[in-house]
Amino acid sequence: MTSSENTAIIIHYVCTFLIPPYPVYGALYYIDRAYRVKSIEVAFQGGAPKDVHMTAGDYFDWTKHNGIVASLIAPVFHTIVFSLLLYVLDQRDIGALSMKCSCTQSVECDCDSTEQQDEDVKQEKERIANVEASPTDLSSFSVVVKDLWKKFGSGIKSKTAVKGLSFGVERGEIFGLLGPNGAGKTSSLNMITTDFPPTKGKVYVAGYEISKHPMKAFEHMGYCPQADTLWSVVTVKEHLQLFARVRGIPWGDVNRVVDHYLSALRITEHADKRSKHISGGTKRKVCFANAMLGDPDLLLLDEPSSGMDPSARRFFWNTISKNVKGNCGAILTTHSMEEADALCSRVGIMVKGQLKCLGSTQHLKSTHGSGYTLEIKLAQTQASGLSSDDAQEQLHNYISQMLPGATRSEVFGGRVTYKVHKEGVGALSVIFHQLEKGKETVGIEEYSFSQSTLEQVFLEFAREQDDERTGAGDAFETK
Ligand SMILES: Nc1ncnc2c1ncn2[C@@H]1O[C@H](COP(=O)(O)OP(=O)(O)OP(=O)(O)O)[C@@H](O)[C@H]1O
Ligand SMILES: [Mg+2]
Repeated sequence: MTSSENTAIIIHYVCTFLIPPYPVYGALYYIDRAYRVKSIEVAFQGGAPKDVHMTAGDYFDWTKHNGIVASLIAPVFHTIVFSLLLYVLDQRDIGALSMKCSCTQSVECDCDSTEQQDEDVKQEKERIANVEASPTDLSSFSVVVKDLWKKFGSGIKSKTAVKGLSFGVERGEIFGLLGPNGAGKTSSLNMITTDFPPTKGKVYVAGYEISKHPMKAFEHMGYCPQADTLWSVVTVKEHLQLFARVRGIPWGDVNRVVDHYLSALRITEHADKRSKHISGGTKRKVCFANAMLGDPDLLLLDEPSSGMDPSARRFFWNTISKNVKGNCGAILTTHSMEEADALCSRVGIMVKGQLKCLGSTQHLKSTHGSGYTLEIKLAQTQASGLSSDDAQEQLHNYISQMLPGATRSEVFGGRVTYKVHKEGVGALSVIFHQLEKGKETVGIEEYSFSQSTLEQVFLEFAREQDDERTGAGDAFETK
């Protein structure tokens, strides 16, 4: 072999193993070359082109035509190497690699991380800490989230979006994850779906640890993300058909199941429209249907009803409550307290990445609600000619006499809100009588006196996060 042939074959080897598409062209070149070399040999021996006879051995002779053999071996090599690489990257993305070192990884946490948690949150944390990774312990749960942390970035611009989240959702339960914007709800769901890996913590879906058996866990999970994830040029029906097949519904049943969802969600008329031509509410319905297909054991619904009109929303509530039963459990995030009240058997309110309270909506209202709420709207123009500040002060004195212990919680325009403890409330008839009298004496235009609602409990916790904000959205929390 001459030195230029040596160089050529070395370049051929390098390209063959480093550039995946190259072997096809390399092999064609060396097949052609083998034939030409043989033709020249025959011509030198005085033969005609018809005398050139090539056997398989001539092509695959390692010493003379090794370029062809290498081109055939390379795709096998590429398949193995790239499959391994894909596996490693996939594992890294779902957190399986980082989880292996989670025991040694220390996550800086706020010193108040457990001090400010209420008793129910602590109890849930203890309950989940005692859940062993055994089929018996996990069998009753759709999902178990164990001490989950997420820290974005590092150094001065780091942000801990989720701090030690622990809860379990039993089969048949709808768990409401509430919280103000930026509280960490979507980040928590994204760790359950492995969209990004947790900094620390473990998640079990339908008994499978998500970092170790992601494929098994995915089989049991339906996800309706906060942002619509539809292909703009694919029709509504095609989306549902595709997801039905992905979820393992047999071909023969796909159309029946898809038609059922189209009519149940009242979107049959949009079935053949491309998703870029449907309204926001309809998009949410399609995303929701995609999540529901295949009866998953765990439904993750991230603000599924946002943008739906009230009748569609009611219908959607019915669909959820009918479907989440038996083996299926759900995590629902929503900003509608009415929705959480109507659907969720348990609710957790998250603030700044931490669960602040947990329990049934009635439990939260009675433990965190302050008893009663008195909302008063003052008349725009006071008959007495008082300025609005003076009118508010006059009203405050009046309310303080009427309900000693009532505290002014919010003043917004002409509206004043008081929190009244149960103990400080006597006969309701007397209170209503005095409020009516206040219409003439202190300029009350309208009022409402009611038991604390879930919304008021939520606002109470949300205020904590709002207080930290500097007024420009969710500012980065640095450590
Ligand atoms: N990829 C990211 N990189 C850096 N910070 C992020 C990232 N994703 C989320 N965050 C931050 O984490 C915090 C929690 O965000 P998340 O989306 O989980 O909030 P949320 O509770 O779902 O809010 P919303 O109710 O508005 O949907 C926010 O302050 C956000 O800026
Ligand atoms: Mg969100």
